Amino acid sequence: MVQLIGHKFKIAVFISGRGTNLKNLINFSKKNKTNWKISLVISNKKDAKGIKYAQHFKIPHKIFENKIKIFERKALIVLKKKKINILCLAGFMRILSKTFIKKIKIKILNIHPSLLPKYKGMNTHERVIQKKETFTGCTVHYVTPKLDSGKIIIQKKLKVYKKDNPKTLSKKVLLLEHRAYPEALQKICS
Ligand code: GRF
Repeated sequence: MVQLIGHKFKIAVFISGRGTNLKNLINFSKKNKTNWKISLVISNKKDAKGIKYAQHFKIPHKIFENKIKIFERKALIVLKKKKINILCLAGFMRILSKTFIKKIKIKILNIHPSLLPKYKGMNTHERVIQKKETFTGCTVHYVTPKLDSGKIIIQKKLKVYKKDNPKTLSKKVLLLEHRAYPEALQKICS
């Protein structure tokens, strides 16, 4: 649990692409009683669709299309300047360095489209289908230097049917993600 007295927890979100989790977090914080708000968005891609949500909701946003070391250096400066309390990764397609994770000194969360510790890394839905799993889902977890391995905050699962394919699974899991990420923030910011 992260403690803060008085103000709302300031959340920064790192994205690389379409940003539906970002959009959902913004909407959730506007429609529900939360003691957190999205205060900063950073993308490593200038054409990431998610940036438009930051623009639409007038949330400060930055684009750093640099190699990871420079990206991290620039991001760290903004995170400190904006006094961010928690960093959420949402479809951020880069691996943060051990140095960054140590230096940042705030909790970092990630959302992953599988029931960790199963199916770390990419192409989770393809592998779930190949292995004929009967359940899949999503996991919100803390970020540590070891990929997709930090302590689990929340998991949500769903049944995999014979007729499912990677595309149907990815749609269904994404809907679960949209419930899981705000719940995880509600949990750790309580
Ligand atoms: C999600 O499936 C998330 O689990 C994974 O990347 C995807 C991001 O989707 N880490 P979006 O950009 O939030 O729509």
